[in-house]
Amino acid sequence: MTESTITTHDFNVAQLQAEYSQKSPQQILKFALDKFENLAISFSGAEDVVLIDMASRLTKNFKVFSIDTGRLHPETYQLLDCVRNHYEIDVEILFPDAAQVEELVKTKGLFSFYKDGHKECCAIRKVIPLRRKLNTLDAWVTGQRKDQNPDTRAHIPVVQVDTAFSNGDRQLIKFNPLANWTSSQVWGYIRAMEVPYNKLHEKGFVSIGCEPCTRSVLPNQQEREGRWWWENAQEKECGFHEVNMNSNHQR
Ligand code: ADX
Ligand code: SF4
Repeated sequence: MTESTITTHDFNVAQLQAEYSQKSPQQILKFALDKFENLAISFSGAEDVVLIDMASRLTKNFKVFSIDTGRLHPETYQLLDCVRNHYEIDVEILFPDAAQVEELVKTKGLFSFYKDGHKECCAIRKVIPLRRKLNTLDAWVTGQRKDQNPDTRAHIPVVQVDTAFSNGDRQLIKFNPLANWTSSQVWGYIRAMEVPYNKLHEKGFVSIGCEPCTRSVLPNQQEREGRWWWENAQEKECGFHEVNMNSNHQR
């Protein structure tokens, strides 16, 4: 760790949130990359590719990971490889535990989430592999935005302690540099900087997750209406961003 790198123990998150809440995504990302050596950007294969573009203009030294649930669209796999080649970076792909997936599929089939909700499948295919990765990091960066879901994301800060993935030994810091950006700002950036994007966006998809749990939306529909559309808006978090639910409960 370099001398200028601060540890999570002497990190005043409230002060930093106050200082950075109105700063640009690039300023927030620069702070995160400068201060945390052991940090990674989480990339879902959707419009959050703008974070990778911004990081690549700041440094060559940044890490990216993505969770492959085994249920992604072909277009998402194509984007993952396109991004790898375009930016000449490694994208670490993490997989769920094979035995857990086999047990779920054996007992409940391949589409259990339509019957008893997405939480169980998401836990196995997304959240457990995410926890495994986050346990190795001091900080992570996500592409979450307030405008993605008024029910669960309206209050996300640009930096926070990720209480859902911290433990007694250490606090995990979570940066959300795009928190204050709107979808139209993200797309303005994608077009201006010619950032590669998921081809599903050309077919009416806005928020993109796993193939069986994502569908396109109509004009003016809220973007997350295309995710887990058979469930309530308040349920539309998969456990990745559990801290959003905790802070909603606290208000
Ligand atoms: S989700 O929780 O509903 O799936 P969403 O698709 O809105 O999340 O993405 C929000 C942010 O979570 C992304 O910008 C990305 O940082 C992270 N994320 C979501 N899915 C993945 C994934 N499969 N791999 C890595 N990061 C992801
Ligand atoms: Fe399973 Fe759907 Fe969650 Fe993907 S989004 S992990 S397919 S429930």
